[in-house]
Formats: sequence, structure tokens, C-alpha cells
Amino acid sequence: PVRAAVFPVAGRGTRFLPATKASPKEMLPIVDKPLIQYAVEEAVAAGATKLVFVTGASKRAIEDHFDTDAELEQALADAGKLELLDTIRGIVPKDVSCVYIRQGQPLGLGHAVLCARPAVGDEPFFVHLADDLIKGERGCLAQMAGEYSEHGGSVIAVETVPRENTSSYGIVAVDEADRNRITQIVEKPAPEDAPSNSAVVGRYLLAPEIFAKLEKTGRGAGGEIQLTDGIADLLGESPVYAYSFDGVRFDCGSKLGYLQATVAFGLEHPDTGERFREYLRGTVCD
Ligand code: G1P
Repeated sequence: PVRAAVFPVAGRGTRFLPATKASPKEMLPIVDKPLIQYAVEEAVAAGATKLVFVTGASKRAIEDHFDTDAELEQALADAGKLELLDTIRGIVPKDVSCVYIRQGQPLGLGHAVLCARPAVGDEPFFVHLADDLIKGERGCLAQMAGEYSEHGGSVIAVETVPRENTSSYGIVAVDEADRNRITQIVEKPAPEDAPSNSAVVGRYLLAPEIFAKLEKTGRGAGGEIQLTDGIADLLGESPVYAYSFDGVRFDCGSKLGYLQATVAFGLEHPDTGERFREYLRGTVCD
């Protein structure tokens, strides 16, 4: 089983300023849960019992969110709000531990993952980017863990994107005859240089050998130490498979994607679904 999940949460979230000036982008809510809680729930559903948050400046809200709040619990108990009390207490299951590591310098996603090494150790682990919110019957990481149990190696979630968007993603080429084993991976290529239009989304199941690669990875696209470049270095040595997941991905790092996710999740939420649907029918979609 894959026990550790790494959440790189040190980014500044500049696309969401001023909302992210004092509060991390991962704390932006979709209906009533912050993005990072959706992330944690997906990792726990895939079997993770150690959650490693790689944090940066003004990320204290994330630690507070996953900590117990005795005062709030007492207040809810006193007010007889027992359902809410259960919700608050269940944010992190009892057998799951949280570890926080500071990234220190914002040197890139590859560097953030390398910072998690002391907490992960010599085991396969998940990396989850909370910006990419995936809605589906079964969590994306659980699907990937199932895939991994069949052939080992590393597994990366991918989806097809319009060719003009390749410069926003890691792009892969695969060998379809060999279970979609990745033969090439490039960070944010221009459309004319992209090896395909199959894009990496923010879910990785990585073999621990990636750490040695990341230690040697220099600055790449955007002047940052890229996880993609570390993975490219791993390809020749240890198999990395592309996995097309079941589910719909929302890019909650963009305003439009965030609004689309809010609508999709709002329509299904037990507290809001029915009336929200009526509202949209009556006012927006007419
Ligand atoms: C990161 C990765 C990129 C991947 C993307 C998925 O980029 O570097 O390879 O396709 O996440 O969301 P970012 O969106 O952080 O620029």
C-alpha cells in the first residue's frame, strides 16, 4: 500500500489575489470545504495514513484546519450542534497523521517534493496538487493505487487537452503497446514542440527513486526545479505509466475553473443542490 501523500502547498496563488493575500489558495472553499480538504479526503480514501504538507509563507491556516480545536468543539457541543461537531472531528481520521515541512525558498514543484523526502522515506508515495479538483465516483488517487498494484513503477494521471494549451502542462508521449508507459515527458512545451496533447494533471504516484533524480535536477521551465524534469530523468531506469482517470477535472487555480467547480459541487450538495438547480434554471440559464 502507498502510505504517504505529499501536498505541495507553498505556492503564492497570485492568480487569486487579493483573496490569497493572507490566506492560502488551498483554503479557498468549494461550497463548504476548502480545496485542501478535498485533497486530503481523496488521499485518505486511497489508503494514505501520513499526510505531508510542504508549506511556505502564510500557510498557518492549513495547519489550523487539520488540528483539533477544543474551544470550537466545546461550543458546538454546548449548542447541541452534534452533526457539525462530528463533521469537525472527522476532518482527519484518527489513524492518520499530519506532517508539516517548510519549503523555505519557492524553487519549484520538484524542489517542494524533494523537501518531503525526510517524511516519506524510501517508499512509494502520492503527490496531490489541490488546485486540480477531480469529481468522480471513485477518487483519482484510489484509481491510480489500483493501477499501481497491477504493475508497480510510477503512475501519473493524464488527460487530453486542446493542443493550444500544451504550454500550461507537463506533456507526455506514451507507448500504447506497453500499458501506456511514458517514453517522454516535457514541462510546458509550446504547441509546435509538444510530443502529444496528453497533459499531466496534479496526481502522481511516485517510486522513491525520484528523490535521487530531483537532487540532481537543475532549474528548468520558468527558472524552477520541475518535478517533470526529475520524472524525465527517471524514465530510462524505472517505468512510469500514464493513467487516464475516470472523473471530471476542474482547474481551481483559475477563476473560471473555480467557478465551474463551485457550480458542479453546489448542484450536488445535499444542503444546496435542489434549490441551486432551481435558481440556475430561473435566473441564469433562461
Ligand atoms: C504543475 C506541473 C505540470 C502539470 C500541472 C497540473 O504545473 O508542473 O507538469 O501539468 O501542475 O496541474 P503548475 O500548474 O503548477 O504550473
